[in-house]
Amino acid sequence: MTAETALHWDGTALLALDQRRLPHAHTTLRLTSAGQIAEAIAGLAIRGAPAIGVAAAFGIVLSAREHGADTARVRTDAELLIRTRPTAIALRRAVHRTTSHLHEGADAVLAAAQEVQAADVRTCDAIGERGAHHILATLRRRPLRILTHCNTGMLATTGQGTALAVIKRLAGHGAVETVLVGETRPLLQGARLTTWELRRAGIPHRLCVDAAGPALMASGEVDLVLVGADRITAAGDVANKIGTYALAVAAERHGIPFLVAAPEETIDQDLIEPGDVHVEERPADELTTIAGQPVAPRDTEVRNPAFDVTPADLVTAVITETRVWVPWPATELCRVAAGLYRR
Ligand code: MRU
Repeated sequence: MTAETALHWDGTALLALDQRRLPHAHTTLRLTSAGQIAEAIAGLAIRGAPAIGVAAAFGIVLSAREHGADTARVRTDAELLIRTRPTAIALRRAVHRTTSHLHEGADAVLAAAQEVQAADVRTCDAIGERGAHHILATLRRRPLRILTHCNTGMLATTGQGTALAVIKRLAGHGAVETVLVGETRPLLQGARLTTWELRRAGIPHRLCVDAAGPALMASGEVDLVLVGADRITAAGDVANKIGTYALAVAAERHGIPFLVAAPEETIDQDLIEPGDVHVEERPADELTTIAGQPVAPRDTEVRNPAFDVTPADLVTAVITETRVWVPWPATELCRVAAGLYRR
């Protein structure tokens, strides 16, 4: 396994960089069953919508090899994998893509899982290129100060990432002054993972607490907000890591573009409104402890939604591998006409 990939299929097992331990320890998990992969996904050793999809696909491969013709057992594993993280549609799609080949045998399931991974790599490249091109064509300021949230890079995918792939491309054009990285409470994907990736990529960045985002916009230090997504409704409402919605509201207030970079398959045509998205509720101890240390009374009741849903009218555009989608064109036109985007 190279340090350039978070997941690697070695022919008999899925090797996964344990993201719970980054950036301080680089530990590789060797996962040999669907149950182990489900546990790694649920516990966030493997995380990020596209990456959990790829991991789940190889979970089906392992299950198909273990259970052979007993497809009912594989389907039970498929349900187990799907239940681990209900918000990311990539997970469900990858499981369906692989289980649909069960009747052809384990080799066909393996080929399907490998295609899920290859498609992820291609998609990341295309999003990176399209996103950078769009931003360079629509924003005047150089170099840019970009605010991002959570982790959307090579740790969250099996390629270069989604929003972070765009940032890497922009940096390649010399167009990035700094990336402002929200720490992403409670599990600190921004502080632990995005800073690690940006440092390795040699891209200037500064870490800030999540609550600093709106204040930095107010003081004129942000040109663009750029995030990923776990699921997007047919209308363009964006489910992403908790804290994203607050950034979108503040971006609107300050006339700053709010862009989302995500694979086309993130768009779920079955969902119409923000309230249709199933938002995962995570365990209480993620809030009542930090790095294992208690920070709140043990029995404190907690509300811990892992994601929020940004309404479509706050989304400037969604960049996918095939298009730049403006989900709310009338509002967007008014913003442009009113000179709201000054950058
Ligand atoms: O809970 P996580 O760490 O899996 O959340 C990940 C995110 O919110 C990412 O922004 C999203 O999956 C897009 S990944 C390219």
